[in-house]
Amino acid sequence: MHTNTMLAFWVALVLLVACAGRQAEARAFFVFGDSLVDNGNNDYLVTTARADSYPYGIDYPTHIPTGRFSNGLNIPDLISESIGSEPTLPYLSPHLTGQNLLVGANFASAGIGILNDTGIQFLNIIRITKQLEYFEQYQTRVSALIGPDQTQSLVNGALVLITLGGNDFVNNYYLVPYSARSRQYSLPDYVVYLISEYRKILNESIPDKKVGSTSRSIPSCVSKSMNFFTQNHSNSFMC
Ligand SMILES: *[C@@H]1O[C@H](CO)[C@@H](O)[C@H](O)[C@H]1NC(C)=O
Ligand SMILES: *[C@@H]1O[C@H](CO)[C@@H](O)[C@H](O)[C@H]1NC(C)=O
Ligand SMILES: *[C@@H]1O[C@H](CO)[C@@H](O)[C@H](O)[C@H]1NC(C)=O
Repeated sequence: MHTNTMLAFWVALVLLVACAGRQAEARAFFVFGDSLVDNGNNDYLVTTARADSYPYGIDYPTHIPTGRFSNGLNIPDLISESIGSEPTLPYLSPHLTGQNLLVGANFASAGIGILNDTGIQFLNIIRITKQLEYFEQYQTRVSALIGPDQTQSLVNGALVLITLGGNDFVNNYYLVPYSARSRQYSLPDYVVYLISEYRKILNESIPDKKVGSTSRSIPSCVSKSMNFFTQNHSNSFMC
């Protein structure tokens, strides 16, 4: 059944990154994806997809907005905590230099999706292909710091989290009635198409590591969007 397949994919595809466990040596952590995991990259961009004002960050240790789409810590922060590391810095942060690079990096950008046409309304955001280009750039920078062999082992031993897909529904398929994508695909066919595009991204680009992939059900994403409404961010639907 299509419906069952969809549910299985969108609700149950949560590979617990925590299963990677603790290691004696600190391991690098790389984060890719959308607003659920953006640690502040969009603050450096000209985009409407931003979390730089009250009430974001009200429960964060500093109580100020950090660009995280959260009142406090977000998923990558909790993972960093559980592996005993500092939170990863946004890739665009000027503080991501020297030893900070060895902690890993967060390449995520609110508003993006699996598809290139998802989130176009947010203007200048870092699409997944670009995030992966930045990851290559990151490795070149780390290589200059600790040499290619050490860089290779840092990357090979790293934990990777990728969170994508919610915006392909909320900010593309369901964005407006009779959206281009909803006229092009029935929902079950759209899901199949997204999975095939997601597979390409994962297959071609993410290093063969312990990869945690989170997805979410449409209702949770929509209820999040409703929160945006009540906070007068009425044109920001975002995941
Ligand atoms: C999305 O954009 C990237 C970069 O421009 C391109 O390499 C890729 O083929 C595009 N994907 C699709 C499905 O068109
Ligand atoms: C993954 O990539 C390899 C090599 O690039 C290719 O041979 C294989 O068909 C791809 N698999 C999928 C499921 O796309
Ligand atoms: C939202 O906007 C309305 C009308 O401008 C205003 O009365 C209300 O106080 C705003 N709510 C919040 C939470 O800012």
